[in-house]
Amino acid sequence: MTQDEMKKAAAWAALQYVEAGTVVGVGTGSTVNHFIDALGSVKDTIKGAVSSSEASTEKLKALGIEVFELNDVSELDIYVDGADEINAHNQMIKGGGAALTREKIVAAVARQFICIVDNTKHVDVLGQFPLPVEVIPMARSYVARELLKLGGDPVYRQGVVTDNGNVILDVHGLSITQAAELEEKINQIVGVVTNGLFAQRGANIVITGTPEGPQIK
Ligand code: A5P
Repeated sequence: MTQDEMKKAAAWAALQYVEAGTVVGVGTGSTVNHFIDALGSVKDTIKGAVSSSEASTEKLKALGIEVFELNDVSELDIYVDGADEINAHNQMIKGGGAALTREKIVAAVARQFICIVDNTKHVDVLGQFPLPVEVIPMARSYVARELLKLGGDPVYRQGVVTDNGNVILDVHGLSITQAAELEEKINQIVGVVTNGLFAQRGANIVITGTPEGPQIK
Protein backbone atom coordinates (compact mmCIF):
# COMPACT_ATOMS: atom_id res chain seq x y z
CA MET A 1 0.00 0.00 0.00
CA THR A 2 1.41 3.43 -0.89
CA GLN A 3 1.54 6.37 1.50
CA ASP A 4 -1.11 8.12 -0.55
CA GLU A 5 -3.42 5.10 -0.37
CA MET A 6 -3.05 5.14 3.43
CA LYS A 7 -3.85 8.88 3.49
CA LYS A 8 -6.92 8.22 1.36
CA ALA A 9 -8.15 5.39 3.61
CA ALA A 10 -7.78 7.57 6.73
CA ALA A 11 -9.56 10.47 5.01
CA TRP A 12 -12.56 8.42 3.88
CA ALA A 13 -12.85 6.85 7.36
CA ALA A 14 -13.38 10.36 8.77
CA LEU A 15 -16.67 10.56 6.90
CA GLN A 16 -18.33 8.55 9.70
CA TYR A 17 -17.98 11.64 11.98
CA VAL A 18 -19.76 13.98 9.55
CA GLU A 19 -23.33 14.61 10.74
CA ALA A 20 -26.12 15.52 8.34
CA GLY A 21 -27.12 19.19 8.33
CA THR A 22 -23.84 20.45 9.82
CA VAL A 23 -21.02 22.73 8.73
CA VAL A 24 -17.71 20.85 8.63
CA GLY A 25 -14.32 22.39 9.44
CA VAL A 26 -11.83 21.47 6.73
CA GLY A 27 -8.02 21.61 6.95
CA THR A 28 -5.36 21.71 4.26
CA GLY A 29 -2.99 19.30 2.53
CA SER A 30 -2.83 16.14 0.48
CA THR A 31 -4.63 14.00 3.09
CA VAL A 32 -7.39 16.59 3.43
CA ASN A 33 -7.75 16.70 -0.35
CA HIS A 34 -8.92 13.07 -0.11
CA PHE A 35 -11.30 14.09 2.70
CA ILE A 36 -12.74 16.85 0.50
CA ASP A 37 -13.39 14.24 -2.21
CA ALA A 38 -15.14 12.12 0.42
CA LEU A 39 -17.18 15.13 1.54
CA GLY A 40 -18.21 15.64 -2.07
CA SER A 41 -19.92 12.25 -1.97
CA VAL A 42 -22.25 13.45 0.84
CA LYS A 43 -22.51 17.10 -0.20
CA ASP A 44 -26.31 17.02 -0.42
CA THR A 45 -26.61 15.96 3.23
CA ILE A 46 -24.36 18.63 4.79
CA LYS A 47 -24.89 22.37 5.13
CA GLY A 48 -21.38 23.22 3.95
CA ALA A 49 -17.84 23.78 5.15
CA VAL A 50 -15.50 26.27 6.78
CA SER A 51 -12.07 26.18 5.18
CA SER A 52 -8.56 26.78 6.51
CA SER A 53 -6.95 27.86 3.23
CA GLU A 54 -7.56 29.31 -0.21
CA ALA A 55 -6.48 25.97 -1.71
CA SER A 56 -9.08 23.96 0.23
CA THR A 57 -11.76 26.59 -0.46
CA GLU A 58 -11.14 26.29 -4.17
CA LYS A 59 -11.39 22.49 -4.07
CA LEU A 60 -14.53 22.54 -1.92
CA LYS A 61 -16.24 25.01 -4.24
CA ALA A 62 -15.24 23.03 -7.33
CA LEU A 63 -17.13 20.06 -5.86
CA GLY A 64 -20.21 22.21 -5.22
CA ILE A 65 -19.78 22.42 -1.44
CA GLU A 66 -20.78 25.77 0.03
CA VAL A 67 -17.96 27.48 1.95
CA PHE A 68 -18.95 29.70 4.88
CA GLU A 69 -16.93 32.47 6.54
CA LEU A 70 -15.91 31.35 10.04
CA ASN A 71 -17.39 34.58 11.43
CA ASP A 72 -20.81 33.58 10.09
CA VAL A 73 -20.81 30.19 11.79
CA SER A 74 -21.70 29.99 15.48
CA GLU A 75 -20.64 26.41 16.06
CA LEU A 76 -18.58 23.68 14.47
CA ASP A 77 -18.88 20.03 15.50
CA ILE A 78 -15.73 18.76 13.83
CA TYR A 79 -12.53 19.98 12.24
CA VAL A 80 -10.76 17.45 10.03
CA ASP A 81 -7.10 17.99 9.18
CA GLY A 82 -3.80 16.21 8.58
CA ALA A 83 -0.51 16.62 10.42
CA ASP A 84 3.19 16.57 9.65
CA GLU A 85 4.00 14.76 12.90
CA ILE A 86 1.91 13.42 15.77
CA ASN A 87 3.01 11.98 19.11
CA ALA A 88 1.37 9.55 21.54
CA HIS A 89 -0.35 12.46 23.35
CA ASN A 90 -2.06 13.52 20.09
CA GLN A 91 0.09 16.67 19.96
CA MET A 92 1.07 17.65 16.45
CA ILE A 93 3.38 19.66 14.24
CA LYS A 94 1.45 21.22 11.40
CA GLY A 95 2.05 23.88 8.77
CA GLY A 96 4.04 22.04 6.13
CA GLY A 97 1.56 23.58 3.71
CA ALA A 98 1.90 27.04 5.34
CA ALA A 99 -1.77 27.15 6.42
CA LEU A 100 -1.06 26.78 10.17
CA THR A 101 -2.67 29.99 11.44
CA ARG A 102 -6.05 29.53 9.81
CA GLU A 103 -5.88 25.83 10.72
CA LYS A 104 -5.36 26.73 14.37
CA ILE A 105 -8.21 29.24 14.31
CA VAL A 106 -10.74 26.81 12.81
CA ALA A 107 -9.53 24.03 15.12
CA ALA A 108 -10.07 26.33 18.13
CA VAL A 109 -13.72 26.80 17.22
CA ALA A 110 -14.47 23.10 16.61
CA ARG A 111 -15.68 20.78 19.37
CA GLN A 112 -13.61 17.89 18.02
CA PHE A 113 -10.34 17.85 16.09
CA ILE A 114 -10.16 14.74 13.94
CA CYS A 115 -6.63 14.17 12.72
CA ILE A 116 -6.17 12.06 9.59
CA VAL A 117 -2.67 10.73 8.91
CA ASP A 118 -0.81 7.86 7.34
CA ASN A 119 1.31 5.73 9.64
CA THR A 120 4.58 7.53 8.75
CA LYS A 121 3.44 10.62 10.70
CA HIS A 122 3.64 9.00 14.16
CA VAL A 123 6.77 9.91 16.18
CA ASP A 124 8.01 9.43 19.75
CA VAL A 125 9.33 12.99 20.01
CA LEU A 126 8.15 15.92 17.89
CA GLY A 127 10.72 18.00 16.03
CA GLN A 128 12.26 15.86 13.33
CA PHE A 129 9.91 17.74 10.98
CA PRO A 130 11.02 21.41 11.05
CA LEU A 131 8.55 23.46 13.10
CA PRO A 132 6.83 26.11 10.93
CA VAL A 133 6.41 29.57 12.46
CA GLU A 134 4.30 32.23 10.70
CA VAL A 135 5.90 35.66 11.09
CA ILE A 136 5.01 39.25 10.19
CA PRO A 137 7.50 40.01 7.36
CA MET A 138 9.27 42.99 9.03
CA ALA A 139 9.94 40.88 12.17
CA ARG A 140 11.59 37.98 10.32
CA SER A 141 15.22 38.56 11.34
CA TYR A 142 14.34 39.47 14.93
CA VAL A 143 12.16 36.38 15.35
CA ALA A 144 14.89 34.21 13.80
CA ARG A 145 17.40 35.50 16.39
CA GLU A 146 14.95 34.76 19.21
CA LEU A 147 14.32 31.24 17.88
CA LEU A 148 18.08 30.64 17.85
CA LYS A 149 18.11 31.46 21.56
CA LEU A 150 15.50 28.72 22.09
CA GLY A 151 17.93 26.19 20.58
CA GLY A 152 16.41 25.95 17.12
CA ASP A 153 17.86 26.62 13.70
CA PRO A 154 15.33 28.77 11.78
CA VAL A 155 15.31 28.67 7.99
CA TYR A 156 13.36 31.20 5.94
CA ARG A 157 10.94 29.39 3.58
CA GLN A 158 11.93 31.25 0.42
CA GLY A 159 9.20 32.28 -1.99
CA VAL A 160 6.30 31.39 0.31
CA VAL A 161 3.73 33.98 1.37
CA THR A 162 0.89 32.73 3.56
CA ASP A 163 -2.80 33.36 2.85
CA ASN A 164 -2.46 36.10 5.52
CA GLY A 165 0.41 37.84 3.69
CA ASN A 166 3.12 36.68 6.11
CA VAL A 167 6.29 34.57 5.85
CA ILE A 168 7.31 31.22 7.33
CA LEU A 169 10.43 30.29 9.32
CA ASP A 170 10.98 26.52 9.56
CA VAL A 171 12.80 25.69 12.79
CA HIS A 172 15.15 22.74 12.46
CA GLY A 173 17.01 20.84 15.15
CA LEU A 174 14.37 20.85 17.89
CA SER A 175 13.65 17.86 20.10
CA ILE A 176 10.31 18.84 21.57
CA THR A 177 9.57 17.13 24.86
CA GLN A 178 7.57 20.00 26.43
CA ALA A 179 5.34 20.79 23.46
CA ALA A 180 2.68 22.92 25.20
CA GLU A 181 5.34 25.09 26.91
CA LEU A 182 7.28 25.60 23.68
CA GLU A 183 4.09 26.45 21.79
CA GLU A 184 3.38 29.22 24.29
CA LYS A 185 6.97 30.47 24.44
CA ILE A 186 7.26 30.87 20.66
CA ASN A 187 3.88 32.59 20.44
CA GLN A 188 5.13 35.18 22.93
CA ILE A 189 7.90 36.39 20.61
CA VAL A 190 6.78 39.73 19.18
CA GLY A 191 6.16 39.39 15.45
CA VAL A 192 5.12 35.73 15.60
CA VAL A 193 1.58 35.20 14.35
CA THR A 194 1.47 31.58 15.43
CA ASN A 195 3.53 28.41 15.35
CA GLY A 196 2.77 24.94 14.04
CA LEU A 197 2.70 23.20 17.41
CA PHE A 198 -0.82 21.99 18.15
CA ALA A 199 -0.13 20.89 21.71
CA GLN A 200 -2.35 22.97 23.97
CA ARG A 201 -5.17 21.92 21.65
CA GLY A 202 -4.29 18.47 20.33
CA ALA A 203 -6.41 16.05 18.35
CA ASN A 204 -9.46 14.41 19.95
CA ILE A 205 -9.58 11.54 17.48
CA VAL A 206 -6.72 10.24 15.35
CA ILE A 207 -7.40 8.14 12.27
CA THR A 208 -4.26 6.46 10.96
CA GLY A 209 -4.07 4.84 7.55
CA THR A 210 -2.09 1.58 7.78
CA PRO A 211 -1.58 -1.35 5.39
CA GLU A 212 -4.10 -3.22 7.59
CA GLY A 213 -6.70 -0.47 7.16
CA PRO A 214 -7.57 2.69 9.07
CA GLN A 215 -7.04 2.59 12.84
CA ILE A 216 -8.97 4.94 15.11
CA LYS A 217 -7.72 6.14 18.48
C1 A5P B 1 -0.90 22.33 6.13
O1 A5P B 1 -0.44 23.60 6.50
C2 A5P B 1 -0.46 21.30 7.11
O2 A5P B 1 -0.70 21.58 8.43
C3 A5P B 1 -0.98 19.92 6.76
O3 A5P B 1 -2.06 19.53 7.54
C4 A5P B 1 0.11 18.96 6.96
O4 A5P B 1 1.25 19.49 6.32
C5 A5P B 1 -0.19 17.58 6.43
O5 A5P B 1 -0.10 17.57 5.05
P1 A5P B 1 -0.30 16.28 4.18
O6 A5P B 1 -1.68 15.78 4.43
O7 A5P B 1 -0.12 16.77 2.77
O8 A5P B 1 0.74 15.29 4.57
